[in-house]
Amino acid sequence: MAFLYHADPSRAHRWREVFAAEAPDIPFFSAGDRHDPAAIRYLVIWEAEGNLAERYPDLEVVFSAGAGTDQFTPAHLPPEVPLVRMVEPGLAAGMAEYVCAGVLLLHRDLIGYIADQRNGRWNPRPIVPAEQRCVGVMGLGALGMAVLAPLKALGFRLAGWNRSSRSIEGVETYAGAQERDAFLARCDILVCLLPLTPETRGCLNADLFARLPEGAGIVNVGRGGHLVEADLLAALDRGRIGGAVLDVFAQEPLPQEHRFWHHPRVFLTPHMASMTQPEGGARAVIANIRRHRAGEPLLNRVDRSRGY
Ligand code: GLV
Repeated sequence: MAFLYHADPSRAHRWREVFAAEAPDIPFFSAGDRHDPAAIRYLVIWEAEGNLAERYPDLEVVFSAGAGTDQFTPAHLPPEVPLVRMVEPGLAAGMAEYVCAGVLLLHRDLIGYIADQRNGRWNPRPIVPAEQRCVGVMGLGALGMAVLAPLKALGFRLAGWNRSSRSIEGVETYAGAQERDAFLARCDILVCLLPLTPETRGCLNADLFARLPEGAGIVNVGRGGHLVEADLLAALDRGRIGGAVLDVFAQEPLPQEHRFWHHPRVFLTPHMASMTQPEGGARAVIANIRRHRAGEPLLNRVDRSRGY
């Protein structure tokens, strides 16, 4: 029985240290170590290139190195091998920081002030108090839930939308397709933290933008596939959407000629909003391996039919 770390090589030594200290009974290999593929039962990987079950014939569980699992091609992962998404405190903390920063960029129009600075323009504008703004979070999974408390501490009104209903103190929650438009009408700033599935692909489109208050802001930290980029550009150009903070794109790296790079109402970053931290990631994986060995159900297992 062995574990293989097959993700970012620069972080492998930190995973190894946690396994050595906290799970010396689980043999640890990273992709660069000589290892027997037939001995690998547990695997951490970002995406599967080729069929994993063929490469590791006795694989028991695949752990995604990140929160999302849309990058796994279903054909590369046999249905009987459980897939687990990454849920660990560092990933949640990083996302909470980024979303607060993104919301504040929009709320205080810091995107506009960046453009003003570039143009040597001194033009202070009135402040709208946070309690007069509603931030709506689409997708109330581990990351969506993690961003709510710090946004609340900043004073924002909060709304949340999820496929299935959730009850969260201090957050006005909406569920399912029938409540989506009522949710959108509330969102001065909309944060997308949905998983990417066939159902959510392209959901940030002209139809959705038209249901937001005039001039609303968008923070996309889900996946590039959620956003119809041409629709956003058109909505930004018309002022229908007031600004966008984007961390993920249909094509990454974002092509040099893309209009987002120089759009005055866009603040963008290179898919860095949050990252799995090796210590928390390794501990979450070790705990789940122990559950699996004890015959208990895995935590955060992906429902392959649902796609997350
Ligand atoms: C990053 O995008 C992740 O899924 O963790």
